[in-house]
Amino acid sequence: MTAISNAAAIPLAPARPRLLRPPGVYRPQHDTWMLASALSTSGMPAGARVLDLCTGTGALALAAAAHGAGSVTAVDISRRALAAVWVNSRLRGFPVRPLLGGLAEAARGGPFDVVLANPPYVPSPVPAAGAARAWDAGPDGRIVLDQVCAGAASLVAPGGYLMIVHSAVADPGKSLEQLRAAGMTPSVVATRSIPFGPVMRARAAFLEAAGLIGAEQRHEELVVIRADRP
Ligand SMILES: C[S@@+](CC[C@H](N)C(=O)[O-])C[C@H]1O[C@@H](n2cnc3c(N)ncnc32)[C@H](O)[C@@H]1O
Repeated sequence: MTAISNAAAIPLAPARPRLLRPPGVYRPQHDTWMLASALSTSGMPAGARVLDLCTGTGALALAAAAHGAGSVTAVDISRRALAAVWVNSRLRGFPVRPLLGGLAEAARGGPFDVVLANPPYVPSPVPAAGAARAWDAGPDGRIVLDQVCAGAASLVAPGGYLMIVHSAVADPGKSLEQLRAAGMTPSVVATRSIPFGPVMRARAAFLEAAGLIGAEQRHEELVVIRADRP
């Protein structure tokens, strides 16, 4: 695990729109709003082609639209999530393009000037199933993170950038390493310490036994990484 302490602590995004959220679709929370806030200060060019990978309700897709994106593609493996994005974007008059699938499907719809990703990153002793596919990500929390970091260059257009959020429990140092190996220029642009939510609290004994958190640790550091493609 890598502790990242020298990045700016940025405020959570002030605007938290009310979104349709069918059962089983991830409720936008700290990680969502932290990435939305980082996007708002990222200098996203007007008219940018944006990908929201792992979109859930589409909260980040809509944040990109509100910041002047020219087009937004929203990708998720959950059909319910895509239905939510479709409704949430049309209610706001910004037609996001929903796409069922993962990285490969997203790459076929690209490249993109800006890629946003809040993937599942909670270490889990059992394979992800049902609603937990929104957060469970294998024994080290990196099943989806590894794919996104290693494959970033297949999504991002030259001159564009990726912004990804995850917990320090899932090893941001490894994300930085994989992004560099993929030809990107990554850095940590925001961090925030938050108390464990219900999933992490229930998982604490496993995380301690796996050496992913310290004894009695009941908070986690969220990290936003920005990776530019030269
Ligand atoms: C942590 S939630 C984030 C949702 C939303 N972006 C937000 O911030 O509120 C992760 C989402 O990723 C989706 N997901 C899980 N594995 C995926 C994969 N391999 N490819 C695409 N989406 C995936 C889940 O269905 C879930 O909607």
